[in-house]
Amino acid sequence: MTFSHAHLLGIEPLAPADITAILDLADEYVALNRRDVKHADALKGLTQINMFFENSTRTQASFELAGKRLGADVMNMAMQASSIKKGETLIDTAMTLNAMHPDLLVVRHPHSGAVDLLAQKVRCAVLNAGDGRHEHPTQALLDALTIRRAKGRLHRLNIAICGDIAHSRVARSNLLLLGKMENRVRLIGPPTLMPAQMQDFGVEVYDDMREGLKDVDVVMMLRLQKERMDGGFIPSEREYYHRYGLDGEKLAYAKEDAIVMHPGPMNRGVEIDGEIADDINRSVIQDQVEMGVAVRMAAMDLLARNLRARRAEAVEGA
Ligand code: NCD
Repeated sequence: MTFSHAHLLGIEPLAPADITAILDLADEYVALNRRDVKHADALKGLTQINMFFENSTRTQASFELAGKRLGADVMNMAMQASSIKKGETLIDTAMTLNAMHPDLLVVRHPHSGAVDLLAQKVRCAVLNAGDGRHEHPTQALLDALTIRRAKGRLHRLNIAICGDIAHSRVARSNLLLLGKMENRVRLIGPPTLMPAQMQDFGVEVYDDMREGLKDVDVVMMLRLQKERMDGGFIPSEREYYHRYGLDGEKLAYAKEDAIVMHPGPMNRGVEIDGEIADDINRSVIQDQVEMGVAVRMAAMDLLARNLRARRAEAVEGA
């Protein structure tokens, strides 16, 4: 086991061996989650606090379930978006948290970098559940596990990430992870939703979806993140669907056995045709949700092992 990190703040600091360690352990937790009795005690006695400064359904539920299945005491703190003020407030939050002695802290925040800042101030392991447009590491890991199980490998695949790349932390974490594991990543989207200089990341960029989808193994769709847009990035949703919505006709350009993914929540009829999303022969969207719980169990388990080891060392050294 090589995983030696204190926090899971992003994919960027992870080595390929770290990624493999999380996915291998997650595979074991997938098996546990399919049993009638789903309890293990990797986090027994530990306190997990979930702090979501941004709305979330599946990610928060997934982290909560993951912690409970591993025996942690899990608490959800309701953080109203309106209560977010400045960095100072975040530091105060950290001080309050330290006084409660949590062991694992799961944070989602609308500002890129806010979770890193918090991690520097608290005395526990921090997991980033999405910060602004920056990173969403557990989403990329659950996507990776879904791909590895569906395709039998996680290298030398052609993977297209499609849609609103500019506003997406999911796209960013995924392209980092898939690149580290030596896949060929293509980004497809309208120029208004494509950050500049993406080619520098070693990816191919397309604005024609049919061309971009040619012979890919994996089609990863993204939600049109309207809440992060402050102007007219697209002419209309109808026009967007026409050019960039995944339907049967466009999917036919991908490999015959290509899988379709979406992190949720989906805008049916905007970025994806409902029939494709529900097609159990192509869509692995439900598998992504299942893998999400297992990946979060694995990540928290590995971080808790390191936390315990560090605390034991500190006691010995004292
Ligand atoms: C993603 C997120 O919040 O970044 N959703 C998720 O975690 N399931 C993607 C999105 O909101 O579109």
